Amino acid sequence: MRRDDAEQWHPGSWRAREVAQQPAWPDTEELKRAEARLSSLPPLVFAGEARHLTDQLAEVAAGRAFLLQAGDCAESFHDGSADAIRDKLKVILQMAVVLTYATGVPVVKVGRIAGQFAKPRSAELEEIDGVALESFRGHMVNDEAFDAEARRPDPWRLVEAYGQSVATLNLLRAFTKGGFADLARVQAWNQEFVATSSEGRRYTKIAAEIERALTFMRACGIDLNKEHSLHEVDFYTSHEALVLNYEEALTRRDSLTGSWYDCSAHLVWIGERTRQLDGAHVEFASGIGNPIACKLGPSVAPEDAVELAERLDPDRTAGRLTFITRLGADRVEDLLGPIVEAVSAAGHLVVWTCDPMHGNTFAADNGRKTRRFDDILREIRGFFAVHRSLGTWAGGVHVELTGAEVTECLGGAEAIGQSDLDENYTSMCDPRLNARQSLDLAFRVSELLSLERAA
Ligand code: TRP
Ligand code: MN
Repeated sequence: MRRDDAEQWHPGSWRAREVAQQPAWPDTEELKRAEARLSSLPPLVFAGEARHLTDQLAEVAAGRAFLLQAGDCAESFHDGSADAIRDKLKVILQMAVVLTYATGVPVVKVGRIAGQFAKPRSAELEEIDGVALESFRGHMVNDEAFDAEARRPDPWRLVEAYGQSVATLNLLRAFTKGGFADLARVQAWNQEFVATSSEGRRYTKIAAEIERALTFMRACGIDLNKEHSLHEVDFYTSHEALVLNYEEALTRRDSLTGSWYDCSAHLVWIGERTRQLDGAHVEFASGIGNPIACKLGPSVAPEDAVELAERLDPDRTAGRLTFITRLGADRVEDLLGPIVEAVSAAGHLVVWTCDPMHGNTFAADNGRKTRRFDDILREIRGFFAVHRSLGTWAGGVHVELTGAEVTECLGGAEAIGQSDLDENYTSMCDPRLNARQSLDLAFRVSELLSLERAA
């Protein structure tokens, strides 16, 4: 779809489009004041970092690297502690080590973190016992408690979300550049409750091998202190660009290139519910310089994916666009192939990554939303199988996880059952893999990747 020159893109051009999944802000003047405040605050990321991520994603698109995107379904204002951030980072680093070691390709690490505060909802209102209130839309908008005051959208939450994102990103930068992510500490990321499990022991073995390799290199006379890449990691942030008032206020012109970047995160994605071609979210994302992603669910036709690629990646830049497919374990093998073929035939070198979580969610007997580890694995297997048959690169996984010992997803090596779900279910939104399940998944994915590399 080509636009005529009368409707040039600018950070607010989405406002002329139909915009899905926005809160009904009760006071638009107050909203404007919050937006003005946000616009006056510094960006969270630097445009050069976003370009660097595009370059690394281009490597993924070309089949020379793998993308690991992971974190909470929804971050919480009540749980932004240093320990929670550290534990999430630990499990992502562990997964990255497993994947890198087993496959020998670089792993691009992207968190669903430092901005993942807004959720699309299937209904505007939630009704309990005859009382209807605005649905919970994430802490950037309102609170999950079921009372009228808590559910009222408050624009100052946009500013609070910015504040928590700044604090989170600051700590992540300190951890990833300040020594915490040093490969010499590979054993130390194994939390106690993980270390005692079978996947924890399997991890310990890899960690010991890495330590031996480092010792060997030191013995050979290599000064490891000089090798920066051993001591730090590039860790990028991402979230769903849902509440566009927030994204617009953080969109800034890069002084080096003159282009616009959404400086709320390195990468932002468009959700399955907001990917309408003429809609506001696609309009907004089309004009920013960041690498962007778009979720594709089972209702997407191959032509829709091609049109989205045309709109979001008109210049056919490798690394610019990532398609995150979430088709469900039962349907991935039927649906994915035609989509990949159509997009490839149109000349787009996109990153293909698999979200095995959202197409496999169901309500347990006690009403808790959950997912089976086996279904998650089955969708990933199907995703790899399709790419292998087409000769395209299964470029990554996108998972919802937490570093804590939660009981939200069923199965895994510790065999969480339906009756265990209530034990430690703390997600405000979708069920997350716990640290052991996440590590288990990393081992399974690394086995699939090794096969793909061999092929
Ligand atoms: N910098 C390299 C990388 O990111 C190696 C590395 C250092 C690493 N610390 C790490 C890899 C922690 C995974 C996890 O790949
Ligand atoms: Mn989710």
